[in-house]
Amino acid sequence: MAGVRPTLGVDLNGVRLPTPAMVASGCFGTGRELAGLVDPGKFGGVVSQTVTLKPVKGVATSRMAETPSGLLWTTGLQNPGVEVFLGSVLPGLAEVGIPVFVSVGGTSVEEFVRVTALLQGKRGIAAVEANLSCPDLERGGLPFSSELKPAVEVVGAMSRLSMLPVFAKLTADTPELVEIADACSRAGAHGITLSGPLQGMSIDTRTFRPRLAAGTGWLSGPAIHPVAVAAVFRVARAIPTVPLIGVGGVQEAEDAIELLLAGAWAVQVGTAMFANPQAPLEVAQGILRYLKDKGLVAPGDLRGRVRVGVPERRGGTAGPEGG
Ligand SMILES: Cc1cc2nc3c(=O)[nH]c(=O)nc-3n(C[C@H](O)[C@H](O)[C@H](O)COP(=O)(O)O)c2cc1C
Repeated sequence: MAGVRPTLGVDLNGVRLPTPAMVASGCFGTGRELAGLVDPGKFGGVVSQTVTLKPVKGVATSRMAETPSGLLWTTGLQNPGVEVFLGSVLPGLAEVGIPVFVSVGGTSVEEFVRVTALLQGKRGIAAVEANLSCPDLERGGLPFSSELKPAVEVVGAMSRLSMLPVFAKLTADTPELVEIADACSRAGAHGITLSGPLQGMSIDTRTFRPRLAAGTGWLSGPAIHPVAVAAVFRVARAIPTVPLIGVGGVQEAEDAIELLLAGAWAVQVGTAMFANPQAPLEVAQGILRYLKDKGLVAPGDLRGRVRVGVPERRGGTAGPEGG
């Protein structure tokens, strides 16, 4: 491949991204916050914050706590509701000129469907992403993604009515992950985003109080990266032709490359945006350098290339512990 210049473009079975490094849901704001800090027009794409049918005020503060290698947070899905989103947030996101995925949320299948219906035909939307970490009120607030049936009901209903490609955002903390991802794709999901944040809690031992006012929250950042890599690896093996976007603890190119080698087609950057708004740009540039070094021509050349199996070595083999 000597002399062939690598390119960064990615084709998610028809959803084209200029680079494989997008911004994850909830980590971009309206785009205006980044003005003067970075040119978001160079990012691979952006996922909006999760939008629900009606405005949601969100939970009490404090909403964020630092934990070793991770950020613990909860917003309680604060958002202005789909109407305000369409009127005053989406136009700003679309103006950036990169693919916009709209994250859809709800507490019932019906709510997901109604929000998805309102997005149809609106300019500037490349895809929708179903936030399946949302609480399913029919099951006492358990996340839709925690079991196969509710996840498939949401994704199937959205996909049946949507002209836009639907990505199902799943979380790694369910034993049925591979089956759920497979079933979502059979129910019509165009792709899978994996992994959403994991549930977490931190307690201040001086006051006996949780550090988040809401009690429990979501853990993101470097702490969840190996979990995301394993989740992507398992799902990619099972459904290799379904576009898979890896998310979880991507701070630099090396993290993204790991996810690509595990089987992701593209990645999203979340928590890292708060410390370094240039992160998606730096990640993309680092991937390009890596491709050049390896004599490869596109991010897709890395997809699923992890070499599994135990290398032979003297004095016995180093096998995986516990399985
Ligand atoms: C402050 C904050 C707000 C978030 N809001 C949303 C959201 O509205 N919808 C969603 O699906 N994920 C949301 N996320 C999760 C991210 O999209 C991402 O899945 C998660 O943070 C893991 O990626 P990371 O380790 O790169 O942060 C949010 C994350 C953070 C840190």
